[in-house]
Amino acid sequence: MRKLKDIRPIEVKDYKLYVINQLKLPKEVAWEELSTYKDVAKAIKDMIIRGAPLIGIVGAYGFAIGVKQLIDERKSLDKAQKVLETLKNTRPTAINLFWALNRMWKKFQKLMQEGKNNEELIKALFKEANKIDLEDYHANKSIGGYGQVLLPQKANVLTHCNTGALATSGWGTALGVIRSAYEDGKDITVYVDETRPYLQGARLTAWELLQENINHYVITDNSAGFLISKGLIDAIIVGADRITANGDVANKIGTYSLSVLAKEHNIPFYVAAPTSTFDLDIKSGEEIPIEIRDEKEVKTCGGSYIAPEDSKALNYSFDITPAKNITAIITEKGIISEITEDNIKNFLKYRGG
Ligand code: MRU
Repeated sequence: MRKLKDIRPIEVKDYKLYVINQLKLPKEVAWEELSTYKDVAKAIKDMIIRGAPLIGIVGAYGFAIGVKQLIDERKSLDKAQKVLETLKNTRPTAINLFWALNRMWKKFQKLMQEGKNNEELIKALFKEANKIDLEDYHANKSIGGYGQVLLPQKANVLTHCNTGALATSGWGTALGVIRSAYEDGKDITVYVDETRPYLQGARLTAWELLQENINHYVITDNSAGFLISKGLIDAIIVGADRITANGDVANKIGTYSLSVLAKEHNIPFYVAAPTSTFDLDIKSGEEIPIEIRDEKEVKTCGGSYIAPEDSKALNYSFDITPAKNITAIITEKGIISEITEDNIKNFLKYRGG
């Protein structure tokens, strides 16, 4: 078995949160302190940290930081609601943020009802955020274990965006499956979509794969069809920002086109995500709020304009892959291989999701 690095995108010390500024990768690994809940909200909005599970984890720490701030500044704890709303109003698509913040809010209310003093309150909130953080790490390792079995001994795998240690508490979801397969001794080559406009694939996934010495090629987003038609890809594996009751998946823009290619060429299309990514309150993908980001992100690259400044641009950040295009969803509780509303409901009910 190979030994892989344990990359952690965040650190918590003395009630302070430190994060790797992902906008600066791969050029430098720069750590930044996020000392207020507004710093945390800004870091999420500006993509200093990103990736569905990590947004949830950082949001949870952000709430604990916000409550500590209220206490330190001798403000009323009634303002905790404002902290919560500020953190929620950062990015709309990934359900993990709302899932983690709702869990923190419930914990906060319970602690208040129990009449905890300020010190106990802060301690317990940081502990809850840490639990969310650790649970995610263990979920990723488990996703990796279940998912790697699906990959052949020698596999050419295409992935999109960044779903690795940098998008989670560590290890990763889709990239975690690739890590686990490699760790287990499989001969893996990864085709990394560069993932315009933020280039999470080129900047972050490639950086992670390089740390692990996993063989990979960065490819332009428009190369996938050609490579697949040449028979060079055995499987596609991606993460998810939200999965609805019927199994539709919101993930980074460009995921849907890959799923269509996979179907056309009869190769498996896997989604890897923790069960906290399911949003059973939403029936289908049509109801998922899709983030639209600043058009400047499309018209510029590395700070320079690559399109006329006066042209308009469209910058949908996510798209929806219909359940019918997905071969299997890999979770920390096991694999859902026939994606129907009933199968998802029963899986989550009986496996405790
Ligand atoms: O805009 P981002 O970088 O936050 O988008 C990230 C993705 O779309 C990932 O594929 C998804 O969050 C799954 S990460 C484990």
